[in-house]
Parts: sequence; structure tokens; C-alpha cells
Amino acid sequence: MLKKRYLLAPGPTPVIEDALLEMARPILHHRTPQFSAIIGEVKEGLKNLFQTKGDVLILSASGTGAMEGSVSNLFSPGDNVIVINGGKFGERWVDICKSYGLNIQEINVEWGKAVDPSIVRDALKKNKEIKGVFVQASETSTTVAHPVKELADIVRERDDTILIVDGISGVGVFDIPMDKWGIDVLVSGSQKALMLPPGLSFVALSDKAWRFSEDAKLPRYYFDFRKERDKLRDNTTAYTPAISLIVGLRKVLQNIREEGLETIFARHERLAMATKAAILALGLRLLAPDSPSNCATGFFVPDGIDGGKFARFLRDELGITIAGGQGHLKGKILRIAHMGYIDIFDIIVAVSGLEMALKRFGYKVEFGRGVAAAQEILYGGIDEGTGD
Ligand SMILES: Cc1ncc(COP(=O)(O)O)c(C=O)c1O
Repeated sequence: MLKKRYLLAPGPTPVIEDALLEMARPILHHRTPQFSAIIGEVKEGLKNLFQTKGDVLILSASGTGAMEGSVSNLFSPGDNVIVINGGKFGERWVDICKSYGLNIQEINVEWGKAVDPSIVRDALKKNKEIKGVFVQASETSTTVAHPVKELADIVRERDDTILIVDGISGVGVFDIPMDKWGIDVLVSGSQKALMLPPGLSFVALSDKAWRFSEDAKLPRYYFDFRKERDKLRDNTTAYTPAISLIVGLRKVLQNIREEGLETIFARHERLAMATKAAILALGLRLLAPDSPSNCATGFFVPDGIDGGKFARFLRDELGITIAGGQGHLKGKILRIAHMGYIDIFDIIVAVSGLEMALKRFGYKVEFGRGVAAAQEILYGGIDEGTGD
């Protein structure tokens, strides 16, 4: 039977058509003036996206590559660091730091909640040796946004500590002005808000973080930030980059500049609000009611329903891919993503599919209730035109 597919998972997200078309062109050689011109353009587009005057490095790796590089380039064996761990990707910071022999103080946060910045302030006061604080701007596994601005305010006061922010699902979704807030390291990836396939990660460093890179003693080779920075200044990369993805990136960054960051953030906010309104209208419980991220909305599966089976039904029978839970939330929650190349009718599809799946799994549902709640909010974002 014909089935149309809808991708509403929090990465990879749908790839925008005009980037797909750009990427379908014959491959360019990367050591040519044509490709250097593309890098030159992309460099400026990334600075606009990261809201920084500094260099934004382009690495050919998924987001974890830039996360790992942020550890290996900035620290030395045995350095003391704080990791804010409130989900799967907080755990990833822990795993990377452990692998590199750092001395970790974990601040564990209940999944679905954001970190309380005063706990971080107190931990820093107690331990003057802490050199880094690691956090997610948006913890995709729990759909929580951590208070990055407040954390930056705290860390900025200390000359010998840097704040490292995983913005893989945050950058391009909501406002994370790197320079204005004084973030030291900001990481992102291609397969979320950037509407591209996976395979590129990005990282920007403050002057303070670049100073850290001079003293860091951990081994580094492929992800050597200083080498990449020097190459980038000559509009090239240290190694053969993911050329086609960078060609697609140029197009996406042009689109982002045209639409404008404020409009983009407002669009994501509206989609997130509409999704939340639908979930609540259906009588379901949000996973992160107090500090939600606009990248995705997580909610609990009603009692007695197996979340894994439910997501499989949505994907295999209705063609709608949303995400389940990770770690101890596996089978218990679902996540509808609304970042990147997602618009109002994708949300309508997801909510209406959700209603049908709920009915199939025996949950009492009145068709259209969630859809109507979402429509009320989405309608507010439609331009004035009347078709004349
Ligand atoms: C917040 C966050 N951090 C890290 C990652 C890992 O990135 P990747 O899978 O691109 O290596 C993801 C991707 O799912 C993410 O959402």
C-alpha cells in the first residue's frame, strides 16, 4: 500500500529540498578556489548562526566528534571538571571525560528537569580547581532546556574555568548568543536545526577557551582545533572534508540569513507551543513541563501502553516517525520533534496520527481534540494575506 513518510524525530530531521539539490551536483575538489569560496561563505554564515565574531570550526564527524574534540583540545589528564548530567547526552559528556582521564564531579539532574544554577555556583565555590563545566543547551533525550545564560554568568567570573555547551539540538532552534552570554565553547551538528544529513559538526571557542587549548596536554590528532583554525583562516580544512554536506550547508546558511534568527526562533517556539497544547488537550502528561526545549516535546505514554510498540505502530502503519525514550525512559515516553525543516502541517500530521494511534491502543480519545488545540496556536502564526 502506498505510504507517505513523515520524519519528526529529534535527529536526523528532514533535509530541505534546495540543499538536497545542491548536494546532488557533481562533487567539487576541496583544494580548489571554487571550494575555498564556498568555505569562505560558510564561515560567515556559521558566525551569524552562532552569534560570534570568532571562528566556527567545521569538522567532518557527527556531533559527538566536536564534543570529543572539546575535551581533548582543552584539558589535561586529571583536570577537575563538573558535568551536568540530566539525560543521555549529559551521560555522553561523562563518558567522554572519563575516557580522557578527567576527574569528574557529576551534578545529577532528574530526567525531565533543568539544572538549578545555584547548585553549580556552590559546587564551583567549594572547589577552586574546577577547570570546566559541561552542559547541554537542549538535552534532547528529555526535551529539557538548561539555563545556559545563568550558567555562563556564573562561569564567566572565573578566569580558570570554561563553560562548554552542547548546542547540537539547541543552536538554530532557540537563542544562544555565544559572545553576548560569554559561552566559552559551543558545539553543534548538521542533522538537527540545520536541515542537513548527519556528518558535520561545528565548534566555536572564546578567547579564554583558545588559551586553554594552548596549555592542554591531552593527545589530539584528527580533531586538532588549532590546526583546523589555521586552515579555516585560509578557507580550507585540515583533511578531506564532507564536501557535499558543506555545499548543502552553504545553501542552508543562506536561507537562515534570509529568514533571520529571530523569525526562526519564533517559528520553533510556536511549533513547540502548539505541540504541547495538543498533548495537554489529549490528557497526556508532559515530560518537561517546567523547562521545555523548543527542539522536541516529550510526553508520557498512558499507563498500560508499551511506548515501543506504540512508536512502531505510528512508524510502520501510519508512516510517522517520532522518537521513543532513551535509558530508563525507554518504552515510557515519546518525543515529537519540531526543529529544522518542520512546518505547521507536519505538526498537524503528527498530532492527528497520535490521536489515531491512541485510539488503536485503547485510549479514550476524541478525534480532533489535539489537532484543534494545535491549530489554535498555529493559526496565530499565519501571515495576514487573504488570497487576493
Ligand atoms: C544534545 C545532543 N548531544 C549530542 C548528540 C550526539 O550527536 P551525534 O549523534 O550527531 O554524534 C545529540 C544527537 O542526538 C544531541 O541531540
